[in-house]
Amino acid sequence: MKKGWIYAVIVCSVSLGIGLLGAGIGGAHKVKHTPEQLKAFEDVFMEQVKIGDLLFHGDAATEKKLGTKLSRTGMACAMCHPFAVDTHPYEFPKFQEQINKFSTLRDMINWCIEKPNEGEILGADSDAMKALEAYIYWSNRGSKLDPGRH
Ligand code: HEC
Repeated sequence: MKKGWIYAVIVCSVSLGIGLLGAGIGGAHKVKHTPEQLKAFEDVFMEQVKIGDLLFHGDAATEKKLGTKLSRTGMACAMCHPFAVDTHPYEFPKFQEQINKFSTLRDMINWCIEKPNEGEILGADSDAMKALEAYIYWSNRGSKLDPGRH
């Protein structure tokens, strides 16, 4: 009986601890952003979207500025993918037949740069990759994620 009580106390303390921790973590997210902050976040995002848009449409000046060579064939992404959303960003990550592996959107962006475009692949964390990713995801904004689907 006594042992039972000890267990009960331990279980209660642990759950209380987890509960408090949860409230702490959750609490951090409850801090509301001001409209000014939200506008600033959106501006940063849209700035990247615009750079990605230019890269996707083969803008030479933007490529030069970022030190990239996305294509040696003269083909820009938009020539094969007229709408960025047609590259199905919401499906990633997924098993990709072309490269026979489980892939992220970045892997596929680089596959197109390397294979059809014969360009220079981008670093996963490079400014150009982030901008292309921002543009492609933006083109599909508001849709539901559906990872793994084809
Ligand atoms: C010469 C034509 C061509 C060009 C140019 C091209 N792609 Fe592709 N892209 C393809 C083909 C072919 C596929 C594979 C078939 C498919 O999945 O649609 C593909 C697939 C993709 C996918 C995956 C789509 C999916 O649903 O799995 C992404 C993302 C992508 N391309 C991005 C880009 C980006 C970014 C660029 C520019 C840097 C680019 N592509 C340039 C032909 C092209």
